[in-house]
Parts: sequence; structure tokens; C-alpha cells
Amino acid sequence: MKVRVLGSAAGGGFPQWNCNCRNCRGVREGSVDALPRTQSSIAVSVSGEQWILFNASPDIRAQLEANPPLQPKAGNRDTGIHAVVLADSQIDHTTGLLFLREGCPLRVYCTDMVAQDLSTGFPIFVMLESWDGGVQHTQVPVDGSAFQVAGIDGLSITAVPLDGKAPPYSPHRFDPHLGDNVGYLIEDTVAQASLFYAPGLGQMSEGLLSIMQSADCVMVDGTFWAEDEMQRAGVGTKLASEMGHLPQSGDEGMLTWLRRLDGPRKILIHINNTNPILIEDSPERRAVEAEGIEVAFDQMALDL
Ligand code: MLT
Ligand code: MN
Ligand code: ZN
Repeated sequence: MKVRVLGSAAGGGFPQWNCNCRNCRGVREGSVDALPRTQSSIAVSVSGEQWILFNASPDIRAQLEANPPLQPKAGNRDTGIHAVVLADSQIDHTTGLLFLREGCPLRVYCTDMVAQDLSTGFPIFVMLESWDGGVQHTQVPVDGSAFQVAGIDGLSITAVPLDGKAPPYSPHRFDPHLGDNVGYLIEDTVAQASLFYAPGLGQMSEGLLSIMQSADCVMVDGTFWAEDEMQRAGVGTKLASEMGHLPQSGDEGMLTWLRRLDGPRKILIHINNTNPILIEDSPERRAVEAEGIEVAFDQMALDL
């Protein structure tokens, strides 16, 4: 199974257009050792020809230009993208569908809750009906059963409902439902390799840890280093937990949980522009690396 990180930053990207925080200013000026990053998405393929996007970011156009395997190869109109699987209905994970409009009908897999959001609070499924074929939505089960993407052999996908937050425009923002936010266990049934992908993860649990332990690689929420990071950076008031993200630091933080995993390769992804782990030589980055944990970057390629 081949995995390419199309975008490793959280919503807003790095640097974020209106942000003058230490990280964003530093990367703009070139005064810190850090890589710019586009917004959250990965591509997965068994064949290396047909790819499944997990999330579709507003940076998708630049991401496709940066990743030749996803580009047209035959005929006047072509793409390496076979289908899109969505983890939630956040702007950074779904807006890319609008930029794929020339390729309608689009095969989109998501939970019923995400489909509801994308037909009401953020009605991009409805908007795309104006393009030929629009969105062909297949409902992702949230009962722990696996599904296949039609036309893709050898890949089995299981949604894992997560404790996260539906976006601010969701009708169930304050009325959480199973399937508002999921991670995916993605298994190559031929090579017997698996990836657990969860860019938005508000809370860990023993059950979730054991699912992660079964994977060859975990790519999980790396949004914030600290619970009050936005406040400390002077760019916002919301806490990580209020936004549905488990920070890396702290007794109950992501690092503490990941320490208990032995076996899987561990990668942090969906990194917010305020996070000090973006700076390659920061103490926080060293602390992450000392745990054997990697920090995803755009164009990171894995062969599992
Ligand atoms: C999030 O995951 O919380 C989002 O990246 C926030 C956003 O897109 O504004
Ligand atoms: Mn996000
Ligand atoms: Zn910033």
C-alpha cells in the first residue's frame, strides 16, 4: 500500500494567510527552520495507478500538481483519483470537492452525519448537483464493519467513530452523533499492511489504542502541542479540547498514549501553524522525535 501525504497542516495551512504568530512569521521570513505545509489530506493506493483521497483540502489543486501519480495520464480528461473518503465535514477536509467539480460525478464515501452536514450547514453536495452527475455518495458504516471502495481491489476500510467536534456550521455542533468524526483503518488485504488515519481526534481510549496497536502505521492528530496553545500564541481563545483535538503534551496527552504502542510506525499529522513541533530544532520537536514519533510533511511517501 502506497501512501502520500498531500497536506500535513491543519485548517489554515502553514503559514496561515492572516497569521503573524512566531511560527508563521518565521517561516515567511525564513528565520526559522521549518517547512511550509498545505492543508490536511492523504492519498492511498494499492496499484499505484488508482488513488483514494482521504479528505479533500482547499489546497487540492497545488497538491495534485505536486504529486505526479495523481495527474492525468491518458485521454483528454483523466485523473489518478478514483474516489474520496471523508473523515468529517470540516472546511479543511471537504472544500477540495468544489475544486474537483470538472471531474463530476465524484465518488464520495462518508458517514450519514457528514453527508447531512454537506447537504445542509455546508451544502457542497447540493451545489455540486449543478455539475453533471454531482456527488455519488456512498454511506460509510459506523458499526465497525469494513467496506470496500467499488472498483478498488485489495483494500478494506473500516471507519472508527471518534470523539471529535462537528464543525461550527453543522446542525449537530452541540448535539454530537456517532459518525460526526471518524478515523479510518485502511488495510491492504494482499500485502497485509495497514494504516490508521485520524487527523482529528479529541480523546483517546483503551479501545482506540488497541485498534491502533493492530496497524503497521498510525497517522494521528498532531494539531496542538498544548491545550492552551492558541491563547499562548495570542491568536485565539479556544482550547484544543474545545476544538476536538488532543494535544501532544500533558499527562494524558497524545505522547503519553503513543508511548504505549509498540510496533506501529507513529506519525503526527494535521499540525496547526501555532505548534512548536513545526520548528525542526525546537525542544518540543526533539521531545517528539525522542519518542520515536515522526512529524508528517507534504509529499511524505510511505510504502506499507
Ligand atoms: C480543525 O480541525 O479544528 C480545523 O482545522 C479548524 C479549521 O479548519 O478552522
Ligand atoms: Mn482540521
Ligand atoms: Zn500562525
